[in-house]
Amino acid sequence: MNNLDQQTVLEQAARKRIKDSHALEGDVGRLAHFYREWASAYDLDVGRDGYCGPRIVAELAGAVQTAYLAKQRTAIAILDAGCGTGLVGVELNRLGFRLIDGIDLSEDMAEQARQTRVYRHVQGDVDLNGPLSDYSSASYDLTVCCGVLTLGHVRPEGLRELARVTRPNGFVIASTRKSYAETAFFEDEVRHLEDAGILVPAQRLNNGRYVAEEDAHYWVFRVLEKASAPTEEPP
Ligand SMILES: C[S@@+](CC[C@H](N)C(=O)[O-])C[C@H]1O[C@@H](n2cnc3c(N)ncnc32)[C@H](O)[C@@H]1O
Repeated sequence: MNNLDQQTVLEQAARKRIKDSHALEGDVGRLAHFYREWASAYDLDVGRDGYCGPRIVAELAGAVQTAYLAKQRTAIAILDAGCGTGLVGVELNRLGFRLIDGIDLSEDMAEQARQTRVYRHVQGDVDLNGPLSDYSSASYDLTVCCGVLTLGHVRPEGLRELARVTRPNGFVIASTRKSYAETAFFEDEVRHLEDAGILVPAQRLNNGRYVAEEDAHYWVFRVLEKASAPTEEPP
């Protein structure tokens, strides 16, 4: 097999792995198992598929800080939700951000993120489809979420908790593959949260580059006061 053939085979294998990850139906056990197996090869595989989501999300965070946030980048507290191996953290660090925490369902992916040494703290075994009970409301200036609000991973309802842990007038920055945005009714959830006074979409990059076979939309949400208000208990 010549080099070109070998490269094509590797690219196809990487693409298949990415596709397989979308069929996990949000099942915590299957997701954890899948990413345990993938953790050490993840960066190479997504690199082969031209994955540029982390760079775009980090650059949006940089633009948002420059445009709207008074604090210096070194003092901006960021939660990287679904940090994976830390590709977003590395890009954020490159842009001068220093207070970055990461959370992920997969302990193995989280361990790879720790090894980048760009995070203040990384926590594994955290399910973004449920309440983030260990995280107080309004803890972060920015929450970033790249490649996680995606098919078979985290449902659109997860956005509510991302807003809760972000302070009022802070921002949530997220990517959504086009297929997810269309099939998972992401925009319905955004409208629901907007109507509830939780967040407002502030900027959106439509059809931006993401991976070779599909584009994504990139969202910037401004978080409102109500996001961190205690939810009313039913009587
Ligand atoms: C495609 S990777 C993206 C990782 C990283 N943000 C990036 O851009 O490279 C998806 C990540 O989401 C994590 N994940 C999947 N379902 C999750 C869930 N329910 N809660 C938390 N993390 C989850 C996986 O473990 C994996 O690390």
